[in-house]
Amino acid sequence: MPGATLPNATALITGGGSGINFAFARVLHERGCNVLIADLRLRPDSKAIIDTINAATSANGPRIVFHQTDVTNWTDLENAFDRVETEFGTTADVVCAGAGIYEPPALGFWADVDTDSHYKILDVNLLHPIKTTRIAVRRLQRAQKPGHILHIASVAAQTASLVTPLYQASKHGVVSFVRGMEGLQGLCGIRVVCVAPGSVATPLLMEEPQIQSWFDKGKDILLDPAVLAKAMLALVEDVDDKYPAGTILEVTENEEEMWRRVPLYDNPGPQGRAISVSNKDDGVKQIREILFKDAGGVV
Ligand SMILES: NC(=O)c1ccc[n+]([C@@H]2O[C@H](COP(=O)([O-])OP(=O)(O)OC[C@H]3O[C@@H](n4cnc5c(N)ncnc54)[C@H](O)[C@@H]3O)[C@@H](O)[C@H]2O)c1
Repeated sequence: MPGATLPNATALITGGGSGINFAFARVLHERGCNVLIADLRLRPDSKAIIDTINAATSANGPRIVFHQTDVTNWTDLENAFDRVETEFGTTADVVCAGAGIYEPPALGFWADVDTDSHYKILDVNLLHPIKTTRIAVRRLQRAQKPGHILHIASVAAQTASLVTPLYQASKHGVVSFVRGMEGLQGLCGIRVVCVAPGSVATPLLMEEPQIQSWFDKGKDILLDPAVLAKAMLALVEDVDDKYPAGTILEVTENEEEMWRRVPLYDNPGPQGRAISVSNKDDGVKQIREILFKDAGGVV
């Protein structure tokens, strides 16, 4: 199946208000694609860029539109797909389920003190990509269109961690789900693929003090979000038929020659430079304190 023809495409990107997905939204727009960003909010810098881009676009030119969406609310997700149709007059044929959150021990599995959130990270990182895929498939079928659905896993889907167990589990789940969707292309022309980034310099990693402290600035490599946007574009366009349905594309280096399709079997684990977070095991100290409290102790 050929990749997406972007000047004629319409994209919906969840989590597109920031970081990797915002970079992807910009790249798609540069290719002539209408883009709807479905996110809780736009970062002020993202909003300023979108306003400038749209102001410079001709009346019939491609646009970037923001639609406020909480991806854990499935009615919100449906509404975002509706907005694509009212705004651009067609069903989204490039869909990226990119919204995601990370897991410092103080907010994740270990500090499960918030009885209402029920491990919200799984709602955002795992259930939302699954639900987004289901909605996209139904709408593409109804419109009798082929389509491309892109997920974002992580190299964390090839490893395990006591410090971020839910993040790991969510990304393992996304990878398994995408592999499972491989056969969809043969059935109805919808191609499901996945990028698996190493460490990328985005607010997800750079704005939570504890997560930031896990990085050794002198040693650990962080990719620019633009590198991921380039990889996501390559996955969606698939110019040389390199990225068939079910592809999990590890991106831990800047150059495409260094990107790697992660095999299901006999995988040696993450390769490349942007895969190490030197001080992450510091999080174990906090887990010890939580375990001490669990046992009735006072810290
Ligand atoms: N930054 C990295 O090192 C890295 C590595 C591997 C994978 N990833 C994945 O890349 C994706 C993008 O992350 P990023 O690094 O660009 O982070 P980011 O924080 O810059 O962007 C994530 C976006 O998701 C949005 N979001 C979070 N919860 C939401 C919700 N309930 N509803 C709607 N939107 C919501 C946020 O508002 C934000 O705009 C995530 O899935 C993340 O897990 C990131």
